[in-house]
Amino acid sequence: MSTSPSLNFAVAERPDRASDADRDAVLASPGFGQHFTDHMALATWRKGEGWGDPRVTAYGPLQLDPSAAVLHYAQEIFEGMKAYRHEDGSVWTFRPEANAARFSRSAHRLALPALDEADFLESLRALVRTDVDWVPATGGEESLYLRPFMFASESFLGVRPANEVTYCVIASPAGAYFSGGLKPVSLWISEHYSRAGVGGTGAAKCGGNYASSLAAQVEAAENGCDQSVFLDSVEQKYIEELGGMNVFLVYKDGRIVTPELSGSILEGVTRSSILELAKDLDLTPEERRITLEEWRAGAESGEITEAFACGTAAVITPVGRMVSTEGEFRTGPEGEGGPVATKIRETLLAIQTGRAEDTRGWLTRLA
Ligand code: COI
Repeated sequence: MSTSPSLNFAVAERPDRASDADRDAVLASPGFGQHFTDHMALATWRKGEGWGDPRVTAYGPLQLDPSAAVLHYAQEIFEGMKAYRHEDGSVWTFRPEANAARFSRSAHRLALPALDEADFLESLRALVRTDVDWVPATGGEESLYLRPFMFASESFLGVRPANEVTYCVIASPAGAYFSGGLKPVSLWISEHYSRAGVGGTGAAKCGGNYASSLAAQVEAAENGCDQSVFLDSVEQKYIEELGGMNVFLVYKDGRIVTPELSGSILEGVTRSSILELAKDLDLTPEERRITLEEWRAGAESGEITEAFACGTAAVITPVGRMVSTEGEFRTGPEGEGGPVATKIRETLLAIQTGRAEDTRGWLTRLA
């Protein structure tokens, strides 16, 4: 890891920023992923040359040749992070080095070039400083969602790692990921589709994994569910993840259990933070295989008292109904999150928003 960036993201400020009134209207009710700030950060990699042309420029459409490799072979990775405004007006992000490290692992798996951690961080700083007025006010849980991504921009139809790659960061003011807020989500247990297999790209944060989750998501909606939960691709027996979120079960004896990283599950930053925070909350974290049958039996006997999904976008979202072709069962209280999920959520958000002391050095200042 290098400590100082080698890329200097020069800012070309656009003359036509959103007006204060237009920006305030967005910030009053941002939703998720619908509105974008005035600028974006960009850099280009070329084989034999490395990274170059780092810049912050007006947010807008990218020009891509129809033969750009990403459009054909999905050589693409991304990250999701949030910037929070603290009470003194400063802006901070949460464990960016963990996202930078995962971005590197994803890049390696998708045969994309490495981007140095310091340069990754510098791109976030440059964009957030340029568009700092888009970071929502302190006090709630709104944030500026940051989406770094990298893709094969070379125009070429042969199947090989691209010789030209684009790195981009965009930013979007964000409220709750689910429109129901903290209402428990219902999950459709996917029987026909797997998200990923061992040796595949399940542990990488690449667009293809999300594309492969969409048919199950459609099936979930057709069955009146908010999301789908995936089982392992070999035995269709073990819980994996929701496609865009990891999952935890809460046991009445204080254990919180999440599926172990089998190679096909995304190593979520929120997931790993919860495993750490559990110790502060007198909970016993466990990472191991969990069968769907264990979940069903535990929920029915009262051994499992709560279930929740977690991720950067969703933070912590309670899971209620579980639905499959064989019937349904529910975990946790009707209509609201259970006390453990609520406590973990509050603890995490208090650190992220600067309301609790950051004893682990998880926060990095961006502006
Ligand atoms: C995130 O939590 O940041 C993600 O990338 C997941 C996606 C469902 C928005």
